[in-house]
Amino acid sequence: MTVTTTARTSGARITPLAAALIAEVRAVVARGLTPELTAYLAAETLRSYLGNADLLTLDQCEGDPDRYRQHVLHAEEDGSFSVVALVWLPGQRTPIHDHVSWCVAGVHQGEESERRYRLVPEGDAAHLAPTEDVVNPLGSVCGFAPPGDIHEVRNSCTGTAISVHIYGADVLRLGTSIRRVYPRPEGERG
Ligand SMILES: [Fe+2]
Repeated sequence: MTVTTTARTSGARITPLAAALIAEVRAVVARGLTPELTAYLAAETLRSYLGNADLLTLDQCEGDPDRYRQHVLHAEEDGSFSVVALVWLPGQRTPIHDHVSWCVAGVHQGEESERRYRLVPEGDAAHLAPTEDVVNPLGSVCGFAPPGDIHEVRNSCTGTAISVHIYGADVLRLGTSIRRVYPRPEGERG
């Protein structure tokens, strides 16, 4: 699945509140902690910004009828982190995927559902097994670092859902935070 990207250069067309979030995340990243701890602290930083109507511009809340949409709010000059808003119309979802770096997600509007998976070795290969179904309500945050970060996210509510994500990578350069897309397990509805 290709995600629509609305690229923003660093510091351009973001709200003062988003600028404050970015400054706080920059301070967290500058501490040079482990990916796990950086993700945890960035998630706690993000929490207090979620649901605030002043965080995103109207443009950054716009979806795409064809697929979930990514608005890049910021990519740090040195590539150390990026902040994006993902907009999901009802029923839209990601493929099953994992990530190139540590990752934080917080629900800014609506509600998102997530299915988590693990890779189960099977001879020389491996298959995916679902481990957990999670509903992430407005204001919830989670932070994680690879490996063990395989999941699928979807908007299971009736309105538009928006989540803010922070990645320890340069999403403007990469175009996405997705490292690998996995085929859906046999028998699981797509
Ligand atoms: Fe993800």
